[in-house]
Amino acid sequence: MSPASAQAATDQVAAKRDHLRPGLGRVERLLARFHQIRDFTNALCADLEPEDCVVQSMPDVSPTKWHLAHTTWFFETFILKKFSPGYRSEIPQYAYLFNSYYNAAGNMHRRDLRGLISRPTVTEAKRYRSSIDSHVDELLSKADEKLLDEIEPILILGFHHEQQHQELLITDIKHVFAQNPLYPVFRESEIRPQGAAIRLPQYIDFEEATVEIGHDGHGFAYDNEEPRHRALVSAFSLASRPVTNGEYMAFIADNGYARPEFWLSLGWMTVNEQRWQAPLYWTKHEGAWWNFTLSGFRAVDESEPVTHISYFEADAYANWAGARLPTEFEWERAALDCPIEGNFVEDENFHPHALSNSENNKQLHQMFGDVWEWTRSAYSPYPGYRAAPGALGEYNGKFMCNQYVLRGGSCATSRSHIRRTYRNFFQPEKRWQFTGVRLARDPQ
Ligand SMILES: [Fe+2]
Repeated sequence: MSPASAQAATDQVAAKRDHLRPGLGRVERLLARFHQIRDFTNALCADLEPEDCVVQSMPDVSPTKWHLAHTTWFFETFILKKFSPGYRSEIPQYAYLFNSYYNAAGNMHRRDLRGLISRPTVTEAKRYRSSIDSHVDELLSKADEKLLDEIEPILILGFHHEQQHQELLITDIKHVFAQNPLYPVFRESEIRPQGAAIRLPQYIDFEEATVEIGHDGHGFAYDNEEPRHRALVSAFSLASRPVTNGEYMAFIADNGYARPEFWLSLGWMTVNEQRWQAPLYWTKHEGAWWNFTLSGFRAVDESEPVTHISYFEADAYANWAGARLPTEFEWERAALDCPIEGNFVEDENFHPHALSNSENNKQLHQMFGDVWEWTRSAYSPYPGYRAAPGALGEYNGKFMCNQYVLRGGSCATSRSHIRRTYRNFFQPEKRWQFTGVRLARDPQ
């Protein structure tokens, strides 16, 4: 079943339950959402073989099986063990194997060794998923309002946590498949005709302003989006769309990867150590650039947004182009009037799409979906931020060092997961996520 049809089926079941059991709306709504998200993870793996699900192609990549079990461990650890009286783990050792980085939740297995674990098998990991799902069903069905008040915020955090892992599952299986000379196909998709040569980006001007940055408290947000605070944003211009493959090819053709004047010192060191000559997954084939996608090995489409570039590459490209990366505050200000629309994981393209020339006017496009946009802002706490006490306080706060903020989501992000205030973060050399670049400029 495709993810979209799995969601539709879950929605129908939930609607039926609501109709049959009036008065239990809150529980039903939470359970419908819970199953919708859990089913979507399962649907993403529907075409994978067990052999696909156990490979760890580099330390940053986790095997699919691990994602399936770790997202389950999250609900078991933070919901069932805390709120379900007398709950006992069927397999207590899973707590060690599937804890990722929560020191307050106990010891954990080494991240870089996840690919060496053949047991539990993929089937057993899936059994673990359905067993925990049944326990959550049971707990919620019997919970009174007071207990629901306690459970709901953690359950919703678990939904968003699982959506983050859905994105990782996709980018990780892409990296796994890319190691295979047979170039396996994750999901067939029609070969799109190469986009027409795309017009130059327009630059949209923004006046200096004091703006409210961060989440306003309505609905869910991660703690790193708070506290909301005022920031002075000087005048700037922002490109109407992300940089395309064709534009990036011009940087490569101009020897961009061999000219230190465009690179940060650490970036220059990385380029030389890693022998980077192009974005991740690009290969020169009979004089032309090809790239590995989740739908197979294809000629690079010049009109698509460039993706799988590091912060270092995004920054070097911007220097070469006579521009710079936006700050996260400029990006958030610019996104204020942009609808949260775009090419997201629900569209099942698993690849960024080209903008049509008819859309390439003096407005912002593709701010959401397609590719995460590197900003020049270091990932650091907003004024007044304090991580919460306990294990869940480890979710974001402890990573606020040596990473850069990315904005807007990608073709592997859920539409219901992203926000204008959402702060993703990665180290500057990482490029296995769907990461791209949008240029900014100071007033001319
Ligand atoms: Fe996690």
